[in-house]
Amino acid sequence: MEPPFPDRESTFEAFARHVSRGKVAFFEKAGLDLVAGEREGPFYRDAFSGRSFIDCHCNGGVFNLGHRHPGVVAALREALEHLDMGNHHLVSGHRAALAARLAASTGGQLAGAVFAACGSEAIDLAIKLARGSTGRLKIVSAQGGYHGHTGLALAAGDPQYRDPFGPNLSGFEQVPFGDAAALDAVVDDTTAAVVLEPIPATLGIAIPPPGYLEGVARVCAARGALLVLDEVQTGLGRTGRMWAHEHEDVVPDMVVTGKGLSGGLYPMAATLVTPELFAFFDTRPFVHVSTYGGSELGCAAALATLDVTEAPGVLERINAVSEFLASAFTGLPFELRRRGLMMGFRFDRPDGGMTAARMVYEQGVLCAFANNDPSVLQFLPPLVLTDAQVEDLVGRVRRAFE
Ligand SMILES: Cc1ncc(COP(=O)(O)O)c(C=O)c1O
Repeated sequence: MEPPFPDRESTFEAFARHVSRGKVAFFEKAGLDLVAGEREGPFYRDAFSGRSFIDCHCNGGVFNLGHRHPGVVAALREALEHLDMGNHHLVSGHRAALAARLAASTGGQLAGAVFAACGSEAIDLAIKLARGSTGRLKIVSAQGGYHGHTGLALAAGDPQYRDPFGPNLSGFEQVPFGDAAALDAVVDDTTAAVVLEPIPATLGIAIPPPGYLEGVARVCAARGALLVLDEVQTGLGRTGRMWAHEHEDVVPDMVVTGKGLSGGLYPMAATLVTPELFAFFDTRPFVHVSTYGGSELGCAAALATLDVTEAPGVLERINAVSEFLASAFTGLPFELRRRGLMMGFRFDRPDGGMTAARMVYEQGVLCAFANNDPSVLQFLPPLVLTDAQVEDLVGRVRRAFE
């Protein structure tokens, strides 16, 4: 496919003029000049130089299956022959099939799905439902976590993303991540929900101490607060389990999924909820409506994505690749944070992740630093690398640091 502009300079200029001057200034300063062209599997090809990059940014998991996974492309092509987005007011077998499949992925415990067009919207619904069903206001989340750019999701995040837009909504409190005692001190009988990522990506792939989620679940149960887990990045196999909370013995009241559920091809997100919470909508079926949430084309892409992710051996392979990378990175100058293929390289220098992003980029690896802890480089390879691609990746990363 021909790029829309003839060269890198005119692409950057048009982007700066019409999309974002700030992003262009940032990328120019950081020395990241990629204009994404053709893409396939784990690779992005630069539109003008033809240089290939292994995508270990993956947009936080959108490209868990790499780019344009053939199974997902085929399902979407087939759907385009027969379907459109559908009308969210109507009964839809496609939506029901995806909801049933997601319910099964939680062992049937989260039997209801409310669809959304993005993760933020799904978090907003989780907070609405927590408040609506408990009649309580307080929402407790973690400092340095990230739940999205919309109203309630934004309110649960860090001040830097919301302060420019006025005072925060009332009822939101943040505590340090990984500290069950700090949570215990603020969760009370006015708390509707605790909203957490099992591993906050933006905080630098912060792996909590063992038993943390179980401790959080105990506090929630004792105070009658709901536990909402934001698995937008950690879910769908990323940590070597289908859902990251399966690493501990917890049953959340809601799980939010997004990003990877799209298969990288059609926006899709969902809030998965217990049957008790689902009952809230029995008498209010139109209280929360999302025009694009649960598009039937997206359902086809998401079902194909689940087919790939849940195929026998996939999770085992993710864990095996994780172990292999851990030993292949031995001796490199960072602390490896790791659960499955959710990885972070933590450096001693406060801006070490930023510098490292440039170093790996020069070797053809695309990564981002963690915005709420720039000492960490987020390292999220696609989950379906071949052995040869893993070797290629290791070579590029080692060359970057040696
Ligand atoms: C953990 C987490 N939750 C929620 C969101 C919001 O998702 P979206 O950007 O699709 O609205 C993000 C996006 O980066 C995320 O990383």
